[in-house]
Amino acid sequence: MKTCELILENFNLLTFDASIDDEWGLVRGGAVVVADGEILWVGAVEDLPEFENRETVNGGGSFLSPSLIDCHTHLVWGGSRADEWQMRLAGTSYEEIARSGGGILSTVKATRAASEDELFQLAKRRVENFIAQGVTTVEIKSGYALNVEGEIKMLRVAKRLGESLPIDVEITLLGAHALPPEFKGKANDYIGLVVDEMIPAAVGLASAVDVFTENIAFDLKQTERVFSAAKNAGLAIKIHAEQLSNMGGAKLAAESEALSADHLEYLDEPGVEAMSAFGTVATLLPGAFYFLNETQKPPIELLRKHGVPIAIASDANPGSSPVASILLMANMACTFFGMTPCESLRGLTINAARALSCQDSQGSLEVGKQADFAIWDVDSPAELAFAIGHNPCQAVYKAGKKVFSRDQGWMS
Ligand code: NIG
Ligand code: FE
Repeated sequence: MKTCELILENFNLLTFDASIDDEWGLVRGGAVVVADGEILWVGAVEDLPEFENRETVNGGGSFLSPSLIDCHTHLVWGGSRADEWQMRLAGTSYEEIARSGGGILSTVKATRAASEDELFQLAKRRVENFIAQGVTTVEIKSGYALNVEGEIKMLRVAKRLGESLPIDVEITLLGAHALPPEFKGKANDYIGLVVDEMIPAAVGLASAVDVFTENIAFDLKQTERVFSAAKNAGLAIKIHAEQLSNMGGAKLAAESEALSADHLEYLDEPGVEAMSAFGTVATLLPGAFYFLNETQKPPIELLRKHGVPIAIASDANPGSSPVASILLMANMACTFFGMTPCESLRGLTINAARALSCQDSQGSLEVGKQADFAIWDVDSPAELAFAIGHNPCQAVYKAGKKVFSRDQGWMS
């Protein structure tokens, strides 16, 4: 008889396994078998082979899904921009604030001034809040220091979060996030610093490089320089594109074989086609859309028509998306962007895994993938995207171990 560590049985499984003829990959009355932190078997209880096992958990008909993946965040920062938000409420725009030295640059000041340990403690609370909502993989970007030493400090904080919490952290260098004040009028020189010093220093810490391509940030030529340095260093590529205007950043990124292009409110059909041709994931960030009071919506119909995988993420950051609820992003993707609840949850699981290139080990309940699960207190899958700001997560498993439950709190 085969041995295993854990059997979770009598759950309604949202597998997101594309070979199952149901959009959620739903298996009613299912079981998942765990060995060595991985899924050894998954299917209907009546087909469950006999295993010699240490522990069985009976779900009593609860829903179980792969744990959630937040594939675009800026969770490491210092300071607060509540004052700037009040300026925006009084009529000043995000762009105006950025151009007058506030916005990202105000967070840069506070983040440069904060110690590595202070940044770690602040970010730890933010990450723990997401784990308790069923998130066990998160991408974290730098981009609030904009000098070599500070960007590396941010990347080290992100690494330490992954080492000290039950979560996988994918780390992205976003040195090209904004132009630091000391490089005013010398954007090309700053890109030189990113290319010649930051990217080489980030190798071994970061797995990807991101650029904010926008009229208040960097242009296509500068973006291209960063992408080619990232490629030479063996790092993956991501982009913040088409958030406030259509600069053609997503097309350039897709042609440079980017894993994902993110935001995309102003994306046009040639951009969608380029993404489809390479398989670049469209990561939509409804929290930023909401918080900046945007009206231009991402082209969902075109993304569907061209078969571009759509991910959803929190974009958690102190200026444009101070988001603390991951399922609220699913709700907003439906209410604002017209996605279906199932599409929004695919966006937080299998398609988010694609955006981080970890779809072979995460994002769905399939044999051989990591045993990362969330158990949900809902009566139907659509309820995951339905309530506004509610956390229906009952328990979270990372690599086959229960790490958090609503009733018992954190497992040590
Ligand atoms: O993803 N778009 C650029 N970067 C962040 C915003 C950062 C900020 O305002 O602090 C974003 O929305
Ligand atoms: Fe962002």
